[in-house]
Amino acid sequence: MSIVIVPGAEAAATVAPGHVETSAVRTGRVDVVGLGPAGRDWLTPQAHAALAAADHLVGYGPYLDRVPHNPRQHRHASDNRVESERAEFALDLALRGERVAVVSSGDPGVFAMASAVIEVAAEPRYAGVDVTVIPGLTAAQAVASQVGAPLGHDFATISLSDRLKPWEVVADRLDAAARADLVIAIYNPASRSRRTQVEDARAVLLRHRSADTPVVVGRAVGSDEQQITVTTLGELDVDAIDMRCLLIVGSSQTQVVDGPSGKRVFTPRRYPG
Ligand SMILES: C[S@@+](CC[C@H](N)C(=O)[O-])C[C@H]1O[C@@H](n2cnc3c(N)ncnc32)[C@H](O)[C@@H]1O
Repeated sequence: MSIVIVPGAEAAATVAPGHVETSAVRTGRVDVVGLGPAGRDWLTPQAHAALAAADHLVGYGPYLDRVPHNPRQHRHASDNRVESERAEFALDLALRGERVAVVSSGDPGVFAMASAVIEVAAEPRYAGVDVTVIPGLTAAQAVASQVGAPLGHDFATISLSDRLKPWEVVADRLDAAARADLVIAIYNPASRSRRTQVEDARAVLLRHRSADTPVVVGRAVGSDEQQITVTTLGELDVDAIDMRCLLIVGSSQTQVVDGPSGKRVFTPRRYPG
């Protein structure tokens, strides 16, 4: 017996000697969906539609918990360390004709699942599986919006996690970004087990930045537990930083001004400002 599958078609024909049978076979797909940093307000209509259309939801448990239950859907929760296995699992479901949403917090293309899914989908066995990335608001944008416009000029995003790259690379990139006078959005600054990176990063940044450089710390932004702190590189309380925080370190041009409901932070559009 041989099976003929027409890529992209809604039906496949099963052909056996002396016997022809046509059966309806759905073409599966994977949408990698950005949930935004938190809350329904920051979920785009496109992401909402992709979640609603899925047969299967795949992702890190706490992110899946943010998607309302739908009895029609199957949920597959995992921890957040097994990205390539999760991608393979989702793509295998799609090969079987299922419509799958892989959920990510923030934007799926920023330190998240989209790279893993696209990388695994490049394997020849997944050649017929359509993968779409549905963007989301990334944490740096959300934190910036709570204080004004600290990302108003050139900026870099750097993850402090040395789980997937050596610390020497992280330190080199921090040094280069600080020397280039870029605003720096720092993702993954710390976790329960990674407690030294923020202090080490501050030491690197102070090679090129003054101690009174503005720093914005956004914790759990968009959630009921949101905390925003405007401080300086010199006064940053490193012990208060955890994995729910994102830091925005200003450039030499970033300014802090008073507003009616707290401090406002902005980086002028022109350079020098
Ligand atoms: C693995 S990265 C995922 C980033 C995500 N894909 C995005 O685009 O925002 C996780 C890091 O994002 C930042 N982050 C995510 N959600 C956040 C939020 N609601 N408030 C502050 N930082 C957040 C933190 O730095 C956290 O350690």
